[in-house]
Amino acid sequence: RIAYVNGQYVPHDQAAVHIEDRGYQFADGVYEVCEVTGGRMVDERRHMARLVRSLGEIRIAMPMSLAALGVVLRETIRRNRVHDGFVYLQVTRGVARRDHYFPDPSTPPSIVVTARAADPRKADAQALQGIAVITTPDNRWGRVDIKTVGLLPNVLAKQAAKEAGAREAWFVDAEGRVTEGGSTNAWIVTQDGKLVTRQADNAILRGITRTVMMEVAEKLQLRVEERAFTVPEALAAKEAFVTSATNFAMPVVRIDGKPVGEGRPGPVARALREHFHETAE
Ligand code: PDD
Repeated sequence: RIAYVNGQYVPHDQAAVHIEDRGYQFADGVYEVCEVTGGRMVDERRHMARLVRSLGEIRIAMPMSLAALGVVLRETIRRNRVHDGFVYLQVTRGVARRDHYFPDPSTPPSIVVTARAADPRKADAQALQGIAVITTPDNRWGRVDIKTVGLLPNVLAKQAAKEAGAREAWFVDAEGRVTEGGSTNAWIVTQDGKLVTRQADNAILRGITRTVMMEVAEKLQLRVEERAFTVPEALAAKEAFVTSATNFAMPVVRIDGKPVGEGRPGPVARALREHFHETAE
């Protein structure tokens, strides 16, 4: 495997950044995960737009032009011969002596790109089963709309899910409303067939998959309501599911050990999953 690190393509097992990289010391950086199908990035334009926004929000300079970045992403995919899988991109504020203040503006941001293959049939098999989720208080910072590499609460929540035999953790805010998953957006299908997902404010990441699923829903003539929902509401729903670049639409069949609806994947999540790639760019 080959990784791109600050201007060079290097063997993956030798790819490294400096110990005083601000990503390492302060989680002072942002990232994107983009699906690859048939060797092509899915929704590249939207992922790049979100990257630009994330960088802008934390005032890291764009490390290279979007066109140049596109070349690096494609070259990393090509060198790793990824047909189906994911490409990962991380930009940090660069290497500087440890000091909380931003380093000198001449400090170049660090860029890392990796790509790996993933068998889409595995995810499809999982989607036939659905996944279990647990819930956990949302103890993250107030700007989770920025896709930063500061993911410790997400790591702890997802590990707790794993140890409870579940795949994802849903964060719940102080009012008892679900914000999102540890690495996914959360959705329900109400008994009258409406799709509900939380409004994209500072309390969730505006998932690219979430945005595309709204377009898929429109094509399928399903109504979408952007509002918060509670865990009891999700348990009483017809269906629940999560979305992300790595999951598309993945049915949620249990929440904290209790079944959602019939406790089986439902037709709405299945339809969204099936139609996702015709709508994604
Ligand atoms: N996670 N919410 C959070 C907290 C996320 O980390 C992600 C993506 C999403 C979904 O966003 P998108 O549809 O653009 O993938 C929502 C990526 C896949 C990850 O961290 O691996």
